Amino acid sequence: MSSEKQPTKLWGGRFTGATDPLMDLYNASLPYDKAMYDADLTGTKVYTEGLNKIGLITAEELSEIHRGLEVIRKEWAAGEFVEKPGDEDIHTANERRLGEIIGTHISGKVHTGRSRNDQVATDMRIYVREKLGELVKFVGEFVKVIVTRAEQEIDVLMPGYTHLQRAQPIRWAHWLSMYATYFTEDFKRLKQIQARVNQSPLGAGALAGHPYGIDREFLAQGLGFDSVIGNSLTAVSDRDFVVETMFWCSLFMNHISRFSEDLIIYSTAEFGFIQCSDAYSTGSSLMPQKKNPDALELLRGKAGRVFGSLSGFLMSIKSIPSTYNKDMQEDKEPLFDALRTVEHSVLIATGVISTLKINKEKMEAALTMDMLATDLADYLVRKGVPFRETHHISGECVRAAEEQKLSGIDQLTLEQFQGIDKRFGEDVKDIFDFEASVERRDAIGGTAKKAVLAQLKNLAAQVNQ
Ligand SMILES: *[C@@H]1O[C@H](CO)[C@@H](O)[C@H](O)[C@H]1NC(C)=O
Repeated sequence: MSSEKQPTKLWGGRFTGATDPLMDLYNASLPYDKAMYDADLTGTKVYTEGLNKIGLITAEELSEIHRGLEVIRKEWAAGEFVEKPGDEDIHTANERRLGEIIGTHISGKVHTGRSRNDQVATDMRIYVREKLGELVKFVGEFVKVIVTRAEQEIDVLMPGYTHLQRAQPIRWAHWLSMYATYFTEDFKRLKQIQARVNQSPLGAGALAGHPYGIDREFLAQGLGFDSVIGNSLTAVSDRDFVVETMFWCSLFMNHISRFSEDLIIYSTAEFGFIQCSDAYSTGSSLMPQKKNPDALELLRGKAGRVFGSLSGFLMSIKSIPSTYNKDMQEDKEPLFDALRTVEHSVLIATGVISTLKINKEKMEAALTMDMLATDLADYLVRKGVPFRETHHISGECVRAAEEQKLSGIDQLTLEQFQGIDKRFGEDVKDIFDFEASVERRDAIGGTAKKAVLAQLKNLAAQVNQ
């Protein structure tokens, strides 16, 4: 009788057995959380030392456990770990394997007082901490490459833009220093996040705390955490460190995306300021003359995917009740994807900036005399005229040059200048020099050579810490 074989099936449908095979797949996290195998084994190693310290595991059992954990570590590292049906996640897979190696009479003790809730939170924090450490290194390296390039090309001038309209002349190195400043802030922010990630949830149990008085400080120290999370309910349910890490990834990718967009624009024939090296561009399959900045477009495009990881996970957790809920398993895939994307992106961006070629002549040819209209206004300011007035006078000079179809305001004669304002003198001609314009902006943060070199030195010092 089918009703006896399927006692739980009331309304039909595709579900026929005691368990739904698709549910196993839907529920399982091993396909992706095995990335944390090392963190999981380390967590168990230290946790069992904690159990030994309170007399729940003997010294002999502890050394057997440690031996077994090492075997498993080697199996994962060599790609020889055999996954079995029933290995729902990295924690069950490792524990099952430990039992096979040292016997379940011992392996059955390792989970005493521990829950998968504090275990997974611990594994995640160890894993994220390591990834952030790698990113600190890569982002620091990226900044150094930009700084070195800027120092070498300090003499090159180009137009600075607002609204993508030519605004004022700047140094190419000043543009580089702008992005190096963003990325240095990212570097510093990363270190602040590292400190918040590095707190120990271990020993919180399922939620209510540890029933055998485990020494949580000891566990934290053994795992290299800076401190213990002070509330067991928070310890198992907090994923702010995941959100914060993905926020960091998103903000960093936003900077990467804007950096890429500038370079894409500068690489067009219309600008011709830069040329990406062949390693980071491709030709068109149809148009032989084309060279596309694929790497830069991918960097720009992948920002969207990282933002999606952050917003998707925030949606997943926004309404879950305290404390642990299975929804939280949705933290891993977006986090891992965001971290991998960012890691690859910073390495690609480093490659792009260290190999692209600039076209100094094109950059300087794009400088036009109208970009010195502000300098013309400043000239009269130095002669005591209020800026509001000089701004207006300079505007009249621009209009006069346009009306007379001159190639620029520098082509106006002294008489014409004086016709507009009699305070113009012979020395007005000195204004029409891009290098001089740039060099006048020598206050902190400006585009004068000494100001830019100071910025670069400061940035290099910050990422060297
Ligand atoms: C889902 O996986 C968890 C482990 O993460 C396990 O405890 C639970 O039994 C599984 N549930 C189902 C319905 O398979």
